[in-house]
Amino acid sequence: MRVLLIGSGGREHALAVSLASDPAVDHLIAAPGNPGIAQVASLRPVTATDPAAVADLAVEVAADLVVVGPEAPLVAGVADAVRAKGIACFGPSGAAAQLEGSKEFAKDVMAAAGVPTARYRACSAPDEVRAALDEFGPPYVVKNDALAAGKGVVVTSSIADALAHAADCGHVVVEEFLPGPEVSLFVVTDGTTAVPLMPAQDFKRVGDDDAGPNTGGMGAYAPLAWTPDDLVERVMRETVEPTLAEMRSRGTAFAGLLYVGLALTADGPKVIEFNARFGDPETQVVLSLLETPLAGLLRAAATGTLAAHPPLTWRPGAAITVVVASHNYPGTPRTGDVITGAELPGVIHAGTSRRDDGALISSGGRVLSVTATGEDLTAARTAAYALVDEITLDGSHHRTDIALKAARGEVTVPS
Ligand code: AMP
Ligand code: GLY
Repeated sequence: MRVLLIGSGGREHALAVSLASDPAVDHLIAAPGNPGIAQVASLRPVTATDPAAVADLAVEVAADLVVVGPEAPLVAGVADAVRAKGIACFGPSGAAAQLEGSKEFAKDVMAAAGVPTARYRACSAPDEVRAALDEFGPPYVVKNDALAAGKGVVVTSSIADALAHAADCGHVVVEEFLPGPEVSLFVVTDGTTAVPLMPAQDFKRVGDDDAGPNTGGMGAYAPLAWTPDDLVERVMRETVEPTLAEMRSRGTAFAGLLYVGLALTADGPKVIEFNARFGDPETQVVLSLLETPLAGLLRAAATGTLAAHPPLTWRPGAAITVVVASHNYPGTPRTGDVITGAELPGVIHAGTSRRDDGALISSGGRVLSVTATGEDLTAARTAAYALVDEITLDGSHHRTDIALKAARGEVTVPS
């Protein structure tokens, strides 16, 4: 099978490692890719958000399967353009990707499907925003309606900050705060059949003990020993199946990866967000534990044959990933700093590039993520942090507490 992978971040590097190790894959091409992905795939340039350019490239490289990593190409309709060429594509249509592309659309689908989620108001005018903030009370949750690369959401106890974020965004969703630990559940679907992967937990805040602003994600781990035994079965029944049915009934079936971001509240799991693609950095840990060959699974979803796919198998043990971020991230990150140690096994490239002289340099906010497995979370933490110590990047920072509370048995679900 010839697989073309679209994207250039840490999620795509993790996907590339898994796709390259699938014995059914004889050629892996990535576009535009990054220096880490170049270790396991041949790279081609492309503007990932240009549907015609991606579709032409898929034809040119004779792809049997195209896997679209990030949300922006999906929302732009890249999967539609690839399928129009008669090539199987893992990733939802532009219409279905609105589950991520518009927070208000996602809320509307959830309401129609009866999915448990935070109460909300969609608004633009400052007085409407103010009324919604007063209705739900602090902590205030204000979400940009449109895609914002993981930085569209402000959760704050300051009404001034909440109002300022709403004014910056224009059209927003204001919603009630959901207390409880967060879980990311990835579901592979062909639109009808849905297969859950292993739940993972992401760390959204920049600093240890969840201090500081939200980021795209500073680390992740799996499995989650502290979740209720029926969590996945319950979320599939209460959230995933009704959402997929609602999307089918609208004539825009969702096929691809449905990312369900949940808060485990005292009233049960409630949806914080949907994304239309694998999460980053959760993908790094989930895929490092998945034993089932990835390309076969994604091809089954892309060709509507998931019902015939064998059950997934998982490696024993635990995985963690720690993001190494640039100076000043999540503010405007400093780029162009030289990186050493990034060729070590387990180092996933996200924001890296090659300087003209061949040196590896930082080119984004989240530069690398360091992934390790172990017999339990404590062993995986020790291995991952030892690897973080092997990396040098001037001004970089990382969280030191990824999976720490879980390893100590200190994560609990409110009751
Ligand atoms: P999102 O981009 O929707 O994932 O939001 C980013 C982060 O903001 C989430 O991972 C949560 O940590 C937080 N968040 C979003 N919505 C809520 C909510 N209703 N209640 C509590 N936290 C939230
Ligand atoms: N880790 C959160 C996300 O991918 O949106």
